[in-house]
Amino acid sequence: MVNNINKKPLLAGVIGHPISHSKSPLLQNYWLSRYEINGFYIPIDVRPQDLIKSIEALVLLGFRGVNVTIPHKVAILSIADTATDRASMIGAANTLYFNKEGKVTADNTDGYGFKQNIKSYDPLWEARTGPAVVFGAGGAAKAVIHALLSEGVPSVRILNRTRIKAEMIAEHLGNRVEVIDWYAIKEALNGATTIINTTSLGMVGQPSFKPDLSNASPEARVIDLVYNPVDTEFLKGARQQGLKTIDGLGMLLYQAEPGFTNWFNVTPSVDEKLRAIFLND
Ligand code: ATR
Repeated sequence: MVNNINKKPLLAGVIGHPISHSKSPLLQNYWLSRYEINGFYIPIDVRPQDLIKSIEALVLLGFRGVNVTIPHKVAILSIADTATDRASMIGAANTLYFNKEGKVTADNTDGYGFKQNIKSYDPLWEARTGPAVVFGAGGAAKAVIHALLSEGVPSVRILNRTRIKAEMIAEHLGNRVEVIDWYAIKEALNGATTIINTTSLGMVGQPSFKPDLSNASPEARVIDLVYNPVDTEFLKGARQQGLKTIDGLGMLLYQAEPGFTNWFNVTPSVDEKLRAIFLND
């Protein structure tokens, strides 16, 4: 990294509580070093009761912005001066931009990361070719569904163990979103061309998830947001049925792009070296 302390470095970071688990410093510092930017990106532990004061302090200290992680992703929306449409629709933010006047804009880049990840593997993918099936109804599901809708998906079928959470998303995100019973997987998959696991099933320490995907379109792309492990039973099962799969690591990397671009004035690229760093971490 080229940290020239005689010239004013650009400052950014990630706030959360706890913060030691965050992968964002590894990722952002890789890009700072790769593009030889005079900047710093640091993890900052911020307790919920200190959130407002901490944002004020970061603005005052000249930070360009920060990533936001658990437990602040929802609360930050009512503290920021403005929010992007996607952050408002999703009801949570993961990236803040501070402008020269000290105004704070909250953004949610998870849906962007999701789309870019698919397109990087599969430039010909188009959401509009058929229904999408989304397993799960948490924060990640909302971002994915918002991205699919903005890409022109004809319909989204949500399946969640706790049905009421899927119903709340459907109510909020409009009439192209329908709820299907968690156990009616076969019916939900009928003709589906994009299939996504947004649940934590399949993650290290969690039960695995291997639904029967035989009813999906042979053209379907199957995407797992789980990235630890990178190759999940869900993806292996899909490949066994001849379907194309995309792992979750890329989404993690691509969702970081808009923040870096805004804070450090360079659009970074997600490359194999970066993937390798995360695979070996
Ligand atoms: P995120 O913000 O990453 O989406 P989350 O909000 O905690 O995380 O959502 C986790 C998702 O995984 C939820 O859809 C959850 O289902 P419930 O709403 O029923 O809790 C799903 N999930 C977690 N463990 C599960 C399990 N054992 N079986 C089925 N779904 C599970």
